[in-house]
Amino acid sequence: MTSRPSISFAKPGVPKNGSVIVLATEGGELSDAAKACDPGGTFARAFPAAEFTGKLASTVEVLAPQGVPFNRLVALGAGKTDGIDGHAWLRIGGAVATQLRKDGEVAVIADLAGAEVDAAATANLAAGVLLRAYSFDKYKTRKDNSEGEQPKTAKPAKITIHCANPAAARKAFAEVQAVVDGVTLARDLVNEPANVLGPVEFAARAKELEALGVTVEILTEKEMKKLGMGALLGVGQGSIRPPRLVIMSWNGGKAKDKPVAFIGKGVVFDSGGVSIKPAAGMEDMKGDMGGAAAVTGLMHALAARKAKVNAVGILGCVENMLDGNAQRPGDIVTSMSGQTIEVLNTDAEGRLVLADVLWYCNDRFKPKFMVNLATLTGAIMVALGQSHAGLFSNNDELAGRLTAAGLATQEKLWRMPLGSEYDKLIDTKNADMKNIGGRYAGAITAAQFLQRFVKDTPWAHLDIAGMAMGSPSSDINQSWASGFGVRLLDQLVRDNYEG
Ligand code: BES
Ligand code: MN
Ligand code: ZN
Repeated sequence: MTSRPSISFAKPGVPKNGSVIVLATEGGELSDAAKACDPGGTFARAFPAAEFTGKLASTVEVLAPQGVPFNRLVALGAGKTDGIDGHAWLRIGGAVATQLRKDGEVAVIADLAGAEVDAAATANLAAGVLLRAYSFDKYKTRKDNSEGEQPKTAKPAKITIHCANPAAARKAFAEVQAVVDGVTLARDLVNEPANVLGPVEFAARAKELEALGVTVEILTEKEMKKLGMGALLGVGQGSIRPPRLVIMSWNGGKAKDKPVAFIGKGVVFDSGGVSIKPAAGMEDMKGDMGGAAAVTGLMHALAARKAKVNAVGILGCVENMLDGNAQRPGDIVTSMSGQTIEVLNTDAEGRLVLADVLWYCNDRFKPKFMVNLATLTGAIMVALGQSHAGLFSNNDELAGRLTAAGLATQEKLWRMPLGSEYDKLIDTKNADMKNIGGRYAGAITAAQFLQRFVKDTPWAHLDIAGMAMGSPSSDINQSWASGFGVRLLDQLVRDNYEG
């Protein structure tokens, strides 16, 4: 990774060197602390000259400003005073990250004209810096070949955030940083190529969460065979790299509380199997473990911030490959639930993996609810594009809470229907069900398939195929992998299931 900027918090004051960033609200309004950094009143002329209006995340730069010891003064738009919510603060932080220069030192005056900037806002600003500055460049061996706007500096940039109460901001940031680190972990896992990250290696990465107090169990192929996970094992049998089931538990809640459960599709590479995918774009299928990566990142976040909740995260890690031993179209497998599945397309493998993981989770943990995340269908991208993940649920309360968390974090969800008309599309004469529906409603028939493995437990399926990777870059993400789902589910837990 590009060396991560270091962040510290300090009392208000006029910085002595480097770059200084002040915030301007709509209309180009500056706080007194901001004005103190512009004693020459340069901005009074610069704003109209640059047609700067204080729009969120827009900037105006003044070099060698008069009457101050530092070298560069930047005004950063914060938008309308009453519209600056948590996500806006992340975006402001993201804009700060675009202002890092080789000189390394950047001071941010976290103060607004006519509005208080509290510790939570300051912490979100800092988080936005880190999220935006993330870049996956561990395989770039030369300093001069980095792409994109983030300079690959020798030393990490140093950012000082000047705010009313540095101690409170520092404390708030420690919490938020747990989530940032979770997002970073999820992005790292998704970006990692499949030759490096197989099922065994993925499980080993999850095991590292033990350092945070998470209990991590890893089941081998043999143990899964004993449990009867024929659906999951069928997917993995064409790979020389054996599958793993990863069970992470974080017990931060009351001992008697049922856990909340998160389940991730962890297909480390999806070639399609014998129903092989076209060559163009197949490399993107190294990211077919985006669901499992999000669940791992979430468990990191919950443990690192010591969330007052009992949570389990379960990953089905497997590689979908072609081989003399690979599963064939027409094969019939028996899932852990006892239900049989006719595999008509080996590329509809995610649902086969999740069928056994959902059943196992429900059976063993009797959770309060289950949310699974999966890069499950191309069809969800046809339906929703790359700005909403598909939400399918058997429970209106859970669906409502997820939707609200999506709006708060701007990891947006759009609810899709379930129903018996769709369910019957996966009936087949040869077995209890087949693993593909017809031509239409591909994302929905996939969800119907999953629902056959959840009984009455409140459940939601998030189809994140359009969101986990390759989505348009944003103010807080420039990487191919987004880490989608970590902030969303952390918010869900925070708002509804703690204390
Ligand atoms: N992993 C893919 C879905 C996917 C596609 C994720 C593009 C991210 C980007 C999944 O396993 C798959 O291949 N789905 C098939 C299902 C079909 C065979 C019924 C699809 O969507 O084409
Ligand atoms: Mn597939
Ligand atoms: Zn897949």
